Amino acid sequence: MTAIELLKQDHDEAMEMIERLELVERGAQLRGSNLELFGRLKSALTLHTLIEEQIFYHSLANLKETDELIKKSYDEHRTVDELLVKMSAPSQDWRVALGELKAAFRRHVREEENELFPKAERLLGAQRLQEMGRQITNIKRGKAATA
Ligand SMILES: [Fe+2]
Ligand SMILES: [Fe+2]
Repeated sequence: MTAIELLKQDHDEAMEMIERLELVERGAQLRGSNLELFGRLKSALTLHTLIEEQIFYHSLANLKETDELIKKSYDEHRTVDELLVKMSAPSQDWRVALGELKAAFRRHVREEENELFPKAERLLGAQRLQEMGRQITNIKRGKAATA
């Protein structure tokens, strides 16, 4: 799979987890299997962000056509990080943070899938994206082996 296919798959998986967490009764603490689900969402998003920044953004950060988008994307990643930290504190407010996380993530994903990824396809080419896909798969395998 190409880097873009893999990153899109991450987006779908994360959104699915966010939507499952939204089904938790309002006012309930995040615990048990839901806390475990949040843990998986947090690891998945943290790894996704890391992979994008190290492999994908890195090669687009110095190109005229994408440098502004990449700068903005870094900021958006930090927003997602902050919301994950907010949700990690035991509090009933986690629902509010989840709503904010969903909105921020959705906005960011739309930008990536509609603007950044098509540009990357054009600027980097199929071969480069295949190669990046292999790198991403290797990082994920390594993580799975040490988890
Ligand atoms: Fe991103
Ligand atoms: Fe992404």
